[in-house]
Amino acid sequence: MIAYDKNINLFTLHTRSTTYQMKADQYGVLLHTYYGPRTGNDDLHRLIRYADRGCAPNPDEAGLDRAYSLDTIPQEYSGCGVGDFRLPSMELELPNGSRSASLRYTGCEVRQGKYALEGLPAFRGAEAETLVIYLEDAAAQVQVELYYGVLEEYDLITRAVRVVNRGGQSVRLCQCASLCLDFPRSDLDLITFDGCHMMERCPDRSPLRSGVQGVGSVRGTASHQHNPFVVLCEHDANEDYGICYGAMLLYSGGFQALAERSQYDNARLVMGINPYHFTWTLAPGESFTAPEAALVCSPRGLGQMSRQFHRAIRERLIQDPFEGQRRPVLINNWEATYFNFNADKLVEIAKTAAPLGIELFVMDDGWFGARNDDNRGLGDWWVNQEKLPGALEALVPRFQELGMRFGIWIEPEMVNEDSQLYREHPDWVLHIPGRAPARCRNQLVLDFSRLEVRQHVYEQISAVLSSADVSYIKWDMNRSLTDVWSAGLPPERQGETYHRYVLGVYEMLGWLRRDFPHVLIEGCAGGGGRFDGGMLYYTPQIWCSDNTDAIDRLRIQYGTSFCYPVSTVGAHVSVVPNEENGRVTPMETRGVVAMAGTFGYEMDLSKTSQEDQEIIRQQVAFFKEHYDLIQRGDYYRLSDPFQNGPYTAWEHVSPDRREALASLVTCNTHAASSFLNLRLKGLDPELSYRVNGGDVYSGAALMAAGYPLPLFYGEYQSMQFYLEAL
Ligand code: DGJ
Repeated sequence: MIAYDKNINLFTLHTRSTTYQMKADQYGVLLHTYYGPRTGNDDLHRLIRYADRGCAPNPDEAGLDRAYSLDTIPQEYSGCGVGDFRLPSMELELPNGSRSASLRYTGCEVRQGKYALEGLPAFRGAEAETLVIYLEDAAAQVQVELYYGVLEEYDLITRAVRVVNRGGQSVRLCQCASLCLDFPRSDLDLITFDGCHMMERCPDRSPLRSGVQGVGSVRGTASHQHNPFVVLCEHDANEDYGICYGAMLLYSGGFQALAERSQYDNARLVMGINPYHFTWTLAPGESFTAPEAALVCSPRGLGQMSRQFHRAIRERLIQDPFEGQRRPVLINNWEATYFNFNADKLVEIAKTAAPLGIELFVMDDGWFGARNDDNRGLGDWWVNQEKLPGALEALVPRFQELGMRFGIWIEPEMVNEDSQLYREHPDWVLHIPGRAPARCRNQLVLDFSRLEVRQHVYEQISAVLSSADVSYIKWDMNRSLTDVWSAGLPPERQGETYHRYVLGVYEMLGWLRRDFPHVLIEGCAGGGGRFDGGMLYYTPQIWCSDNTDAIDRLRIQYGTSFCYPVSTVGAHVSVVPNEENGRVTPMETRGVVAMAGTFGYEMDLSKTSQEDQEIIRQQVAFFKEHYDLIQRGDYYRLSDPFQNGPYTAWEHVSPDRREALASLVTCNTHAASSFLNLRLKGLDPELSYRVNGGDVYSGAALMAAGYPLPLFYGEYQSMQFYLEAL
């Protein structure tokens, strides 16, 4: 609900359990007065105290009032260069060379329904409300529109920013953040989700210290190293307790999320496109839209924060028809064959997979052009008929005869120099004139900021997709951007290349969704290098990591779960010893871990033992039986795998709390170990639950006292406890 008190220009946004408030003051400065657990419509401006602070500049409007300084008051969207020395949200370069931003309130608008952003991903919600606040920078003749989407039932507030040049001269945006959030306190922890290829999104938590701290990416992608999702929370906040603020950016390019603890123990969070190599020229009448950011404040701990994001992402970000549909259990041939396959080999794997209940076959890298290894072929999107005679027209029916659907891997943004595409269009790659571009995995990046490049690639790929009944695509992206310069832009607009590249990727994903609306797209970037809300708008699931080891995955999936729901987390069972780290885990455990994601297999099933095949058959049946509970239930983290405790456990609870599934993997086994009880969460204390068809316990007892675990024996064992209310 949006309450606007026009007499005092007070904006109060209520979600089910939170309140967000802003006020335009007597000088038109838009103050941020509150965000936190739900309050009434009280004017919380009274909590802002003014004092004459040393060296704090006063804006001209304040006259001789030395207590009024932009450097000390909480603001909704900070400017720069005019008296606030904390983190800026916006920086404008005017034709005279000045760089600053000074914003004042001019008006507002409340609309029914959630705003959309042209060419950019955004949450939706016909039931939601939109608030638009208009600000202007008078000297620059620039209008800044702050958009707020209030998704009340999800406790979600979205934000976006549009900048319009209303003057007669070009201006340049040097920074345009999506989100600025001021806190009247700084006794908060910052949690970021960091790592590397094969070990993505490991939580890193530390108290805010003086000055600026944060994460970002200058790789042109969200990156394996840092995720565009951060949390600020009270020092003692845990899964079930404490106020926590989660902020996600729906953006798949270079981002920045900075938190600043300032001199009077306030804090500011600013998140948006990374200003590194970013400028955007706005000719008269032109506009720029910054990507959407989404906020959840949980008054009751990190677990509740995650569940709000999960529900909102599933129901208001993932596009139809994929939220309502059951997604297929798949088998992917990458770790089974790498590049070494032909049609018969793939069909051989499928013949084992289909009777086990696996529904979709994914043909990974190596099916096109001269792609017999990862040194050549990228860019040539036609079927290699030496490997696959008769192309997809002949191949796909062979899977359909087995009752399986079929999907393909693509990597549209990339090219190898050894390809027909590169030989014909060497100028289509990102490169700086006079410099040879850096290779990575021996590939170069196509300049997706250019329409003709996107169109060419799209024509080829869509021809393949149209040639047969393809129901799934894995869109991969296996390197970061370097040598960022576009032959399609004049010198003064080169700072737009990074962002135009991302917009180009989104546009092509949009073409795929338009022309092939029933094709499920799985995102991927060398595993989880582009796991963000922007991609999820187009790709309902994302390959979480190239690391398929079940024990490493416990950590990766734990970190991922802070923002992203199970139904988005690509997870497969693969062979042991694991190809990435050599670890041996039981087939049962690998299945339990992979079914905390989209669930599939990535191994040569034709080589597995009868015993393993029987385990797989049971795993697939179990997953399908409990699909709704696992994929759409509420997710609870029961332990932190980074604590090196005896086990890692998590739980799915149905929305009506009548069913739950707890899963546990033993991580450290010792002789003479203690007896442990697994304390469950999210149950109805009043209900009685039968556990695995046997003993009955009350929900209250299971949550307060726990369920008795057997003594652990053997490496990396797993257990699942299915609870059904009587
Ligand atoms: C990286 C992906 O993450 C893998 O799953 C696989 O698709 C390879 N690329 C193929 O080149």
